[in-house]
Amino acid sequence: MRLLVTGGAGFIGSNFVQQTVRERPDAEITVLDAMTYASNLGSLTEVADKIKVVEGDVADAALVDSLVAESDVVIHFAAESHNDNSLNDPWPFVQTNIIGTYSLLQAVRKHEVRYHHISTDEVYGDLELDDPNRFDEETSYNPSSPYSASKAASDMLVRAWARSFNVQATISNCSNNYGPRQHVEKFIPRQITNVIDGVRPKLYGNGVNVRDWIHVDDHNSAVWAIVDKGRIGQTYLIGADGEQNNLEVVGMILEQFGKAKDDFDLVTDRPGHDLRYAIDSSLLRSELGWMPKFTNFRDGLADTVDWYRANEPWWRAQKLATEKVYAAQAR
Ligand code: NAD
Ligand code: DAU
Repeated sequence: MRLLVTGGAGFIGSNFVQQTVRERPDAEITVLDAMTYASNLGSLTEVADKIKVVEGDVADAALVDSLVAESDVVIHFAAESHNDNSLNDPWPFVQTNIIGTYSLLQAVRKHEVRYHHISTDEVYGDLELDDPNRFDEETSYNPSSPYSASKAASDMLVRAWARSFNVQATISNCSNNYGPRQHVEKFIPRQITNVIDGVRPKLYGNGVNVRDWIHVDDHNSAVWAIVDKGRIGQTYLIGADGEQNNLEVVGMILEQFGKAKDDFDLVTDRPGHDLRYAIDSSLLRSELGWMPKFTNFRDGLADTVDWYRANEPWWRAQKLATEKVYAAQAR
């Protein structure tokens, strides 16, 4: 199988490539990545001799057309992915997430190539803390930030291309991922590397916001289940029943460093900050037989802390750049 993996030098895409090289040695993998600030070629070093890497933009229609023509399956991870950045400057989110998806859809339509679209639970907006309902495949779209609106728009393009042009597409909407090789702008790696640097973790607002955490390897095994067995045209939600509020997560990180659980600072909240995400992944489990392997969040988090402790050269340069951006926003 010839696979085109967009965004393969980012967090989830690079873990996907590593997992695929390990488990599917026959797959021929081409990574298309624009190598933005969020990429890290160091994430692909271990598999560099087993894959092809093309530096380029998913919105470059000619390049995308030529790469899709030589592929059997496209898995589209590439995106501008950070909410805080989308509030500072929404344009790259519109360009990459919407126009980039458009250019891929036109190419897979022309060459009749199977397409899997990676999306997020944020397209559904947020839930109250005490809402007994969780997001499922029937939940209405209600995005809050420029990031989640751009992802919602890209999902809608995929649905339209599947219905009107018979594109062989599936979509997955996953909850918050954690694990190795995540950019230090994101919550968990930011706080782990803060503690390593002797800086107190920084919680937005009052810290009660809830995220539904899933290990990145579980996200990626679900993506493979959908690519292998998913119904064309179907959306699947991916989640591992991992709801935790931000105070609890920071408490566990501090504990793993032997520090007091209240050794953090509360900082300016994110505008429009979604309160809670929660995924019901029953369809994925019952129809495709998928199950998460990382069911103990505390253990998965401890492994992630160990990874950042052991891999400072991977994150140090990005940490310096990231904290300059946050300092300008007093966060
Ligand atoms: P990331 O920011 O770590 O990586 C994104 C990658 O895409 C980077 O390597 C970057 O260089 C590349 N990229 C950006 N713009 C590009 C362009 N125009 N052309 C080609 N490549 C480009 O993101 P991530 O956290 O790995 O997220 C990957 C995908 O998963 C995204 O589509 C995101 O919306 C989705 N998602 C993420 C999460 C999460 O918790 N991180 C959860 C659900 C869904
Ligand atoms: O739900 C899936 C989404 O999860 C993905 O689509 C996004 O690409 C991914 O970035 C993530 O979005 P969040 O906005 O939930 O992730 P982030 O890591 O930015 O923040 C997680 C929570 O932690 C959120 O409530 C904001 C809070 N936070 C974040 C940072 C960076 C803090 O309290 N302090 C921080 O320093």
